[in-house]
Amino acid sequence: MSDKALDDFGPLEGENAQDEEKEVGILKEQVSSLKEEVERLREYINQLEQDKEKALSPPLIEAVVMDVLPNGRAVVKSSSGPNLVVYITSAIGQNKLKPGDRVALNQRGSAIVEILPRSEDAFVKLMEVVERPKVTYADIGGLQVQMQLLREAVELPLKKPELFREIGIEPPKAVLLYGPPGCGKTMLVKAVAHEADATFIRLVGSELVQKFVGEGARLTRELFELAKKKSPSIIFIDEIDAVASKRLDASVSGEREVQRTLMQLLAEIDGFDPLGDVKIIGATNRLDILDPAILRPGRFDRLVEVPLPDKAGREEILKLYLKKIKLSGEVDMAYLVSSTEGMSGADLKELVTEAGMNAIRRGAKAVNMNDLKEALAFVRKKEKGISGVGYL
Ligand SMILES: Nc1ncnc2c1ncn2[C@@H]1O[C@H](COP(=O)(O)OP(=O)(O)OP(=O)(O)O)[C@@H](O)[C@H]1O
Ligand SMILES: [Mg+2]
Repeated sequence: MSDKALDDFGPLEGENAQDEEKEVGILKEQVSSLKEEVERLREYINQLEQDKEKALSPPLIEAVVMDVLPNGRAVVKSSSGPNLVVYITSAIGQNKLKPGDRVALNQRGSAIVEILPRSEDAFVKLMEVVERPKVTYADIGGLQVQMQLLREAVELPLKKPELFREIGIEPPKAVLLYGPPGCGKTMLVKAVAHEADATFIRLVGSELVQKFVGEGARLTRELFELAKKKSPSIIFIDEIDAVASKRLDASVSGEREVQRTLMQLLAEIDGFDPLGDVKIIGATNRLDILDPAILRPGRFDRLVEVPLPDKAGREEILKLYLKKIKLSGEVDMAYLVSSTEGMSGADLKELVTEAGMNAIRRGAKAVNMNDLKEALAFVRKKEKGISGVGYL
């Protein structure tokens, strides 16, 4: 064949072969993606079968170990009431079990088949526990009166209970901080715990109510036990209005449960030694909706308002945060103080942070008054709910 003829047919044949190859390639890809799909569906079926098994298996019975007997048995108190003598399955083994453990019994209630995580573990996660917080009184701007009250009502009785004993008076049992958000309530409590060298245990009322439905009362009891174990300690119940609102309606079952939690809390406070080494501080943004029962003498009977900072307070807070950053040129303090009326400590901190961001944006190494002015506009806008540009 001449070159000319090859030119005529060659490419055509080649194209056919290429098309076929392409086709095979596409089909192969389809096969492998279908195989993957089959694999995925198989896994899904497996998962459903497991779920089905779980759904059909009988429920286990929760119990608490009272005593471990020598012959592979144990005495437990089942959640339904009576004490039972049950077998310990070999998978668990006698040695691992100790009185107080939470366990699951098989459905007949005759053997321990699982050790359940201690409820305290789950609970501890819900709480913030800090051995000795780092915040000090020097980190707080303004709030001198509030600090003084807390020192007298919390720090002093923890550090020197004998002073109270000698004179024969009891310090307040529990202190309630109230005021708008971001004004330093949490900070104050941490600083007191720092100064008193105490463990800070913070529990958020709304979480207690939402995440542990049906367990609030028990968890409240455990909270106080934990505080005793870690004493000296300060129990800080944040958003206490979530468990102590007078608007609760006892005819709604969820709210009945919240009330049980409140009852337990009151019982714990009532049975409390005001000169012991555990102190209770509550905090709320809504004093107006609190159940008066919680404010009765012998309970949260020392109220401390933590209001928005006044002029002097704003100046102190601004100075605290401006001290931490690099400044260039003059800062018009009087202007900043007068144009931040109505802002909280948290807002003022954000103002300074935002000014720093402004400086970074324009490639500067220090913050000037103009950065602060722009930040002021930003924080004000945000306060009013107009969304601006966020952080970079
Ligand atoms: N008086 C203050 N001095 C210095 N910083 C403050 C002050 N008040 C608030 N801040 C800053 O604002 C942040 C939030 O304050 P904090 O958590 O103490 O407010 P809060 O009153 O507990 O608010 P909430 O009611 O929302 O819990 C603090 O971490 C701190 O950075
Ligand atoms: Mg707080």
